[in-house]
Amino acid sequence: MKKLPHMRHTVTLRLNGLERSGQCEPRTLLSDFLRYELGATGVHVGCEHGVCGACTVTIDGVAQRACLTLTVAAEGHDVNTVEGLAPDAQNLSALQAAFRRHHALQCGFCTPGILMSCTDFLNRVSNPSEAEVREMLSGHLCRCTGYSNIVAAILEAASQRRKATSNA
Ligand code: FES
Ligand code: FES
Repeated sequence: MKKLPHMRHTVTLRLNGLERSGQCEPRTLLSDFLRYELGATGVHVGCEHGVCGACTVTIDGVAQRACLTLTVAAEGHDVNTVEGLAPDAQNLSALQAAFRRHHALQCGFCTPGILMSCTDFLNRVSNPSEAEVREMLSGHLCRCTGYSNIVAAILEAASQRRKATSNA
């Protein structure tokens, strides 16, 4: 049987604010492209079919499953991963710091995806109820924490953010 040639495309996108390019096949998942072509290994891969949430990134500010997105569809878009959350190498973002304070992670496998969903969520919902936070978290599987500390961290980060906005 004749083998089909491997078609390669160059895809250019903005990753955490910087223009980046790489090569991929038409079928390459964005999760694999980010990890293996661009080195963004904070994008974790669990189920690879949209259930666990570990691969969540934001595309143009909206949380998306990178394992359900074809890389070629991300051409020209703004993609953010957990690597872009901290303001610099010495400091965590307010959301990351709240996770640390509340012991909201154990093995940390689910954490990058949760942080990216939270980033989108808190941009849209400034004063979330616990029920709203838990509903947002229902898109993520965590095998370690029992979720309570994650919820506490997100509620605290939302409150800090409201205070910072009102003092600005
Ligand atoms: S790896 Fe994408 S949702 Fe599980
Ligand atoms: S902290 Fe281990 S899976 Fe969530």
